[in-house]
Amino acid sequence: MHLYPVEKSVISLNSLLEVDDLTSATTFLDWGGNQGNLLSFDNFPIERSNYTCVDVDEEALNVGAITYPEADFIHYNKFNKVYNQSGNADEAFPTIDTNQDIIFAFSVFTHTDFNEFKETVLWMKDTFTYRKIIISLIGTNSTILLNRFYNARVEREGSSIDIRDLANEPDTNIAYLTDNNTIIRNQMGADGVTCQTFLTMYDTSFVLEQLGGTIQIVHDLEYPFLVIEP
Ligand SMILES: C[S@@+](CC[C@H](N)C(=O)[O-])C[C@H]1O[C@@H](n2cnc3c(N)ncnc32)[C@H](O)[C@@H]1O
Repeated sequence: MHLYPVEKSVISLNSLLEVDDLTSATTFLDWGGNQGNLLSFDNFPIERSNYTCVDVDEEALNVGAITYPEADFIHYNKFNKVYNQSGNADEAFPTIDTNQDIIFAFSVFTHTDFNEFKETVLWMKDTFTYRKIIISLIGTNSTILLNRFYNARVEREGSSIDIRDLANEPDTNIAYLTDNNTIIRNQMGADGVTCQTFLTMYDTSFVLEQLGGTIQIVHDLEYPFLVIEP
């Protein structure tokens, strides 16, 4: 189980509120919402009974369901290299109330491969009645974020491959950083990898070409957020 600390989700919520103040939202789908941390903040205005959290980490969801019994916590048993190594690669998407004003995924597709990101967003667009789908990314040119991740890895592991200049390398639509400090540049390579840490960085123009929407840069950390409206 990876319980995501509540204090870290301050960044998730503050970034989200820069994109939408949520005042006209009633229903909310938190994709990869872990233990439902957003519900712990006074400035998160969604009723608990209108909040749905989907995650691949069943134990984190169970903790959320005990803390917030009015909310809906749904397990999606999809394989993830870090968060659900016993999950199924071809798991069907879960059944969820299709009326979700805001669909939010913070720091989720930064830990999956691009195929999964794309399939999930296409399914979301087809399945839900929504006002906005809002997804956090790390860009291959996200200087502040890459610097932050680089420093964290050096602190944790003693060294790191230099990920701070990805945008100036060839073929940088997608870069997957795995354990052992290996960067993988193609989807097939990333598919075969099981590891404890996995970070995916995208060229934001490539993501826009593939999925549509707009990019908004938010927070002091300059997160690129993909925002898709119907
Ligand atoms: C870094 S945590 C972020 C937690 C939360 N979004 C937040 O900002 O507080 C990443 C979360 O995404 C979940 N996750 C990873 N792959 C997923 C997927 N394919 N579908 C849904 N959740 C996924 C993980 O289990 C984990 O809870």
